[in-house]
Amino acid sequence: MGYLRSQASDEFDRWSECYDRSILQWLLFGPSHRALIRRIRSISADRPIDVLDVGCGTGVFARRIRTCLPNARVWGVDLVAGMLRQGLDRWSIAGDPTTPVQGDSERLPFASSSFDVVTCANSFHHYPDQERAVREMSRVLKPGGKLLLLDGFRDRPWGWLIFDCFVASFEGDVKHASRRRFRELFDQAGLGHIRQTVHNPPAPVVLNEGTAPVIPRPHHVIFHDRTLEHAASASQGS
Ligand SMILES: C[S@@+](CC[C@H](N)C(=O)[O-])C[C@H]1O[C@@H](n2cnc3c(N)ncnc32)[C@H](O)[C@@H]1O
Repeated sequence: MGYLRSQASDEFDRWSECYDRSILQWLLFGPSHRALIRRIRSISADRPIDVLDVGCGTGVFARRIRTCLPNARVWGVDLVAGMLRQGLDRWSIAGDPTTPVQGDSERLPFASSSFDVVTCANSFHHYPDQERAVREMSRVLKPGGKLLLLDGFRDRPWGWLIFDCFVASFEGDVKHASRRRFRELFDQAGLGHIRQTVHNPPAPVVLNEGTAPVIPRPHHVIFHDRTLEHAASASQGS
């Protein structure tokens, strides 16, 4: 049986109370967030941007983005109400435009083409349908917007040992992708200029970056003119 959404809900509901005090904040999440913020800063050059953080947890990363990039408006989406609730003080600092939303990465509750940057840190291995989640993140990006997805990867022996053996022993059947799989998923979602950077803080994580197409590809074209229909199927076949 594959990993279920209810497993993530149960795990993070239980973990939410002490999540902010976990040693992983220091070992893994903090260094991951710093790597992402460096990348967002180099993309945005401090201009006003709209950022969505998928799997935002208690909002630690959203808060860090606001501190380092005061011109960013930040939304966070997370499946688990308990995680969002733990971060209420963080989210509700007066005048701070950060907005938490409860929702699923596979059905993002946002209109298409809404964000300049979508981030996802240390959460992707919990998504049962990863293909759909990347398509959703790509959908909500504005043309030319960036998806920055960081997660553990299992290619090297060290990564395999940490993620497939150690992490899986207490998180269950979570799915840490390989670098090649990340590229495939980005490619299938229509993201271009794919770039991958490996960080080791101390577990190996990969920061995957892709750019939404500037001219969206027409997925469904309904022709009323038979001549055009023939021309389209001929060009698809070529
Ligand atoms: C390890 S925490 C990472 C939190 C945050 N991104 C960080 O770096 O501190 C993983 C988060 O993913 C969330 N999550 C798991 N499955 C999800 C899903 N299908 N949709 C949205 N969030 C999900 C969990 O509730 C949890 O808050």
